[in-house]
Amino acid sequence: MRLVLVGPPGAGKGTQAEFIAAHLSVPKISTGDIFRANVAEGTPLGMQARKYMDAGQLVPDEVTINMVRARLAEPDAAHGFLLDGFPRTVPQAEALDEMLSTMGVGLDVVLELVVDDDEVIRRLSGRRTSHGCGRIWHIEFDPPQREGICDRCGEKLFQREDDRAETVAERLRVYARDTAPLIDFYGAQGKLVGIDATGPVEDVTLRAIDALQSYGG
Ligand code: AP5
Ligand code: MG
Repeated sequence: MRLVLVGPPGAGKGTQAEFIAAHLSVPKISTGDIFRANVAEGTPLGMQARKYMDAGQLVPDEVTINMVRARLAEPDAAHGFLLDGFPRTVPQAEALDEMLSTMGVGLDVVLELVVDDDEVIRRLSGRRTSHGCGRIWHIEFDPPQREGICDRCGEKLFQREDDRAETVAERLRVYARDTAPLIDFYGAQGKLVGIDATGPVEDVTLRAIDALQSYGG
């Protein structure tokens, strides 16, 4: 299955991507994670992306599209994938359609995770991420057993640079301006399905899997 997850910052895309990708046996491709790995390694791509990320703005389309094109050409993406955080602009969505049509395939479905801004702010202010395995936690809604330590890999947790309140507000503005138009874009293609992404993580996963069933997932 070829699937895109869309939704505002903090909607739970990364959290759900883990479970849904495992359920569908497809690779999870998160552009935010790829950029953060490049920032951590100090690569030229990371140095270029960092200034946009720290300001809560989008990395330019050309840079992002080239990165995704290279990732989708890897063998593990040949039979399906889950994209988390891409596309996030209409030009990115058009570029994705083009890339896939060159490969002779198309997207099956775009799953929108629906949450309101107040919930986003509660989620992002308490988010912690594992340095070791990338598992996403929340200090209140999904806490690890030992504070600051990942239950899964035993490494320390960190707080993302872009989860500061001012940056979150900018990310929400950017989402409304640049990414929300994708809802109409994919709605017009008949590929959009939205689910309520509030409530316990497991309930959201079940809703997602249920919604994907009618698309062959
Ligand atoms: P990216 O990493 O994609 O960030 P984002 O879209 O802002 O989304 P987040 O990762 O913040 O949230 P999420 O929806 O994954 O939520 P999560 O599961 O973590 O992008 C970062 C930056 O990279 C961008 O700003 C941009 O600069 C750049 N970038 C990336 N892609 C780009 C692109 N295509 N074009 C240009 N630039 C790009 O959950 C959040 C918290 O909530 C966690 O603590 C979690 O435990 C908790 N939680 C999850 N589900 C629930 C639940 N059901 N109930 C309670 N808590 C929950
Ligand atoms: Mg994420």
